[in-house]
Amino acid sequence: MNNMARFGVSMDAGLLERFDTLSERKGYANRSEAIRDLVRNALVEEKCSHGDEEIVGTVTIVYDHHQHGLSDRLTEQQHGHHEAVVSTLHVHLNRSDCLEVIVVKGKATDVQRLADRLIGTKGVKHGRLVTTTTAGELR
Ligand code: NI
Repeated sequence: MNNMARFGVSMDAGLLERFDTLSERKGYANRSEAIRDLVRNALVEEKCSHGDEEIVGTVTIVYDHHQHGLSDRLTEQQHGHHEAVVSTLHVHLNRSDCLEVIVVKGKATDVQRLADRLIGTKGVKHGRLVTTTTAGELR
């Protein structure tokens, strides 16, 4: 790999041991790869917290489609933010529950607002927004 920098890190031996155990459990090939992922996560999180940054993400929601008008309200909200909605995956989990994964993109504040609306809609049982950024800036 080009342009790799090496650095030394000092930390409490017990803390390092716990980190190594965690890295192993998560399947990292080595300590460096685990640390690189931590750094990338911190950078993505920081970027996504700035309202004007262009980000991408997914909103995952679970709801009961028998709840009166709920499917229509969720569809209405997505049409209302059509510029931010890239695609929607709908899965019928069982006789009543639906899982929807909505791919979103746009300014961080707009993405967050849309996610809050969808997740906060009455009848949505669980929801979560996962945000990320383009891979180009994360070597
Ligand atoms: Ni369904």
